[in-house]
Amino acid sequence: MQSCEILLQKNKQWAKQKLEQDPDFFNRLATTQSPEFLWIGCSDSRVSPEILVGAEPGEIFMHRNIANQVIHTDFNCLSVLQYAVSVLKVKHIIVCGHYNCGGIKAALDKQRSDLLITNKWLMHIKNTYRLHQEEIDSFEKEEDRHNRLVELNVIEQIRSLSHTSIIQTSWAKNDGPVLHGWVYGVNDGQLRSLTTRQSTDEIHPIFQYRQVSAE
Ligand code: CO
Repeated sequence: MQSCEILLQKNKQWAKQKLEQDPDFFNRLATTQSPEFLWIGCSDSRVSPEILVGAEPGEIFMHRNIANQVIHTDFNCLSVLQYAVSVLKVKHIIVCGHYNCGGIKAALDKQRSDLLITNKWLMHIKNTYRLHQEEIDSFEKEEDRHNRLVELNVIEQIRSLSHTSIIQTSWAKNDGPVLHGWVYGVNDGQLRSLTTRQSTDEIHPIFQYRQVSAE
C-alpha cells in the first residue's frame, strides 16, 4: 500500500472512532467554528500544534510557515490574523517556535543557491540575528546560538504582531487578544512561555497608528 493510501485509511479509522465516542461530533462542527486560539507556528512536521496540546478539531485556528514568522508583506499570514481577530474574535494568539528549527539554522548559514525563494523568507531572521548579534555570538556552542535565535525570533514575531493595524485596532476596541510567545523542545516535548504582550503594554511610538478608532 502506498503511503498516501495509508493516510486515507487512517483517516477512515479516526472518523469512525470519533463517531463511536461522540455521535454528534461532526454535526456540531459542520456549521460553525469558534476557536479561542490562533496559533502561528513553524511548518516543521515534528511540531503539530493540536497533538502537542491535546486539542480537538475546532479549537485552534492556525497559520504555519517556515520559522513561524509574521511578515508585514505576507498577505497569507495577515489574512489569517485579520479573520481570527475580526471575525472569530480569538482570545489568544500564540506564536510558537521550536528548538532545532531548520529555518533558524539555515538563516545562520550561507544562502543556498538552490533555495532562492526560501532565502528571501529567511532574510528576516538574518535581520533579527543582526539586532542581537552580540548576544548570540557570545554563545560558544553552535547549538546554543541557534536556540537563542529561535527564542529571539519568537519574541520578534510577538512585537511584529503588536505593530499590525489589526492588533492595534482590536486592542483599542476590545482589550484583546493576548499575544503569547512560546517555544517547543522537539527533544523533550515541552512547551515553554517566553513572552506575553497585551493591550496595556507600550508600543514604540514609531509603530503606533496615529488614529486607531475606538468606537
Ligand atoms: Co522550524
